[in-house]
Amino acid sequence: MIEISPEGPENGPQIERLLDMAFGADRQARPSYRLREAAAPLETLCFVARDDGALCGTIRYWPIVIGADTPAILLGPIAVHPAREGEGIGGRLIGPSLEAARRRDHRIAVALGTRSYLGRFGFTPARAHGLVFSAPVDDTRFLVLELAPGALVGVSGAVTGLPNAHDQVARGFAPAR
Ligand SMILES: CC(C)(COP(=O)(O)OP(=O)(O)OC[C@H]1O[C@@H](n2cnc3c(N)ncnc32)[C@H](O)[C@@H]1OP(=O)(O)O)[C@@H](O)C(=O)NCCC(=O)NCCS
Repeated sequence: MIEISPEGPENGPQIERLLDMAFGADRQARPSYRLREAAAPLETLCFVARDDGALCGTIRYWPIVIGADTPAILLGPIAVHPAREGEGIGGRLIGPSLEAARRRDHRIAVALGTRSYLGRFGFTPARAHGLVFSAPVDDTRFLVLELAPGALVGVSGAVTGLPNAHDQVARGFAPAR
């Protein structure tokens, strides 16, 4: 039976292998990785799917900023083991994690992904909202979702990653340790 649970440190190596399988070993060259370089994933929104202990799905989120100072979260990477696609695992990772984000008062989610899939969860093209990606990307894959009604009103500008871990704490994305 598929079980969804928070990601733990012990899942790290299996997640890396799954991501290599889903996106290729050169995945770190993708534009979305530029947004993740200096920050850590948002632990409370990272989940894994397991079947009898074997990892078959992963979702992670990263803190980002829109324009000068609008906090947002970056959905992804999301991946399901190729042998387990089409069983609803992706939906079970995305839907509840977006709900968890809403409960934690995150207001805007950005993603670089397939519109026909992420559109099921409410994502729409980000350029239409005046958002700009900091590297050349396929506009049809640059997506945004309001987690709170009206969250995008008056918000526009470049989507950027956080410059360092200190900023992640200062902006309230992570507890001070
Ligand atoms: C995209 C992905 C996460 C979907 O996970 P999944 O568990 O197979 O998806 P679900 O079972 O929840 O949903 C299946 C439905 O989504 C559709 N779907 C799956 N991947 C899709 C894609 N890339 N584009 C459009 N539709 C897609 C399926 O056709 C199916 O449609 P149906 O409900 O009408 O039959 C998975 O296929 C994957 O890991 N792909 C490789 C990595 C990737 O591209 N990740 C980013 C995607 S934005």
